[in-house]
Amino acid sequence: MGRTLWHGRFEGGPTEALQALNDSLPFDRRLYRQDIEGSRAHITMLASVGLVADAERDAILAALDQVEDDMEQGNFDFVASDEDIHTAVERRVTELAPAGAKLHTGRSRNDQVATDLRLWTKAELSDLASLVLNFQRTLLGQADRHGDAYLPGYTHLQQAMPVLLAHHLMAHGWALSRDIDRLLDAIRRADVSPLGAGALAGSSLPLDPDQTASALGFGGRFENSLDAVSDRDFVADGLYALAMLGIHLSRMGEEFILWASQEFGFVGLDDGFSTGSSMMPQKKNPDIAELARGKAGRLVGNLTGLLTTLKGLPLTYNKDLQEDKEPLFDSVDTIRLTLLALDGMVSTLTFHTDAMASGADSPFAVATDLADYLVVRGMPFRRAHAVVGELVRRALSGEASLPDLVSTHPDLGAEAVALFEPGRSARGRSTPGSGGAVPVAAQRERFVARLAADEARIGALTGSTSADLRN
Ligand code: ARG
Repeated sequence: MGRTLWHGRFEGGPTEALQALNDSLPFDRRLYRQDIEGSRAHITMLASVGLVADAERDAILAALDQVEDDMEQGNFDFVASDEDIHTAVERRVTELAPAGAKLHTGRSRNDQVATDLRLWTKAELSDLASLVLNFQRTLLGQADRHGDAYLPGYTHLQQAMPVLLAHHLMAHGWALSRDIDRLLDAIRRADVSPLGAGALAGSSLPLDPDQTASALGFGGRFENSLDAVSDRDFVADGLYALAMLGIHLSRMGEEFILWASQEFGFVGLDDGFSTGSSMMPQKKNPDIAELARGKAGRLVGNLTGLLTTLKGLPLTYNKDLQEDKEPLFDSVDTIRLTLLALDGMVSTLTFHTDAMASGADSPFAVATDLADYLVVRGMPFRRAHAVVGELVRRALSGEASLPDLVSTHPDLGAEAVALFEPGRSARGRSTPGSGGAVPVAAQRERFVARLAADEARIGALTGSTSADLRN
């Protein structure tokens, strides 16, 4: 058993129960790159303000390189007293270089862990934003491949008005643009260095928090040391962005589940992205879409769990805050897996455009266009609605087909019957942002421009040091 960081003050060692509950190494070891990077910046700053000699700094930097190498290769030997990743790295550095005992000068694990987690969050969220962008391109690719296809649009899951498939797919694409916005916003909030705040109150040593902030690629440093070590807003922001993204993926998943059903028959799943049944030989199941739907539960759970942990915490650091990491790691891992699988599933979907069209070509789907036809000819909309509504009721009661009733109606007639031509209703819609052929082409241009702008915004982030720290 090695010595604890606080052994000077204590006569007895820690109990097994305390260690089992207290140790965060099992999950925070994935922060090792960020921890080492933070230590490099810190020791370099300590040397530049004269608190350690250049030779001591160099010995510590060499030891940090060695530790990083060993971690990368899986050759690092953790010992029982390594409570967390910060303890483990510092212990080993000090074994390799006695000057390592100076590494923690002016630093606490409280500012250290907040620094590590901010670096990690920035890098991971920017990587996820790129995956979202890829998925948007997949949706756009399917939209382009089915330029003319149309399907019923739904409200209340009842057929409402026909729309182009491209319009429907881009609807999901735009929701994902907002997710990218939220991820970038969460990154911006994480982009503040807490290093130099110490345990809570800063230091009387001549530290330079601006130097470490810029060495680590942060946009700036903390303004208040108490806030710096107790702020986990950036974790909550990230978890919210991921929960909302997960909810979008869940809603898409639900639609693809419906569309793949025999009842809809709008899409066919590729073998590589679907599963079979152990008992029923005929089955082909949309497990990826179901998991996209199901995983939203844990993403929301991770967010509410963290918010509940934060609620009521007094300033400043409390050990409760150690509970920030597992939900964040889990949400990041969950979204990455889900996005990759759903992207593969969507890019290999077969769209049964005939089935979509035959649903959309139901005469009743044209009802709104018939009312608009009357409006254009001067009839007040409320009256037009009632006129068409009555024709629909008579058609449903079996009196005659809707097109027949339209052709003999004095205000409608043969010209209005042309509205029943397959696809005409979907393609003909013309208002900006609507689902017809002309506005959808304009929308596509704007969507492509938005993807390019978001790609540039994400690319601009990867200029910072933290991009190299992703694990
Ligand atoms: N493992 C701890 C965490 O994740 C590091 C900070 C510990 N600080 C302390 N004062 N015990 O929050």
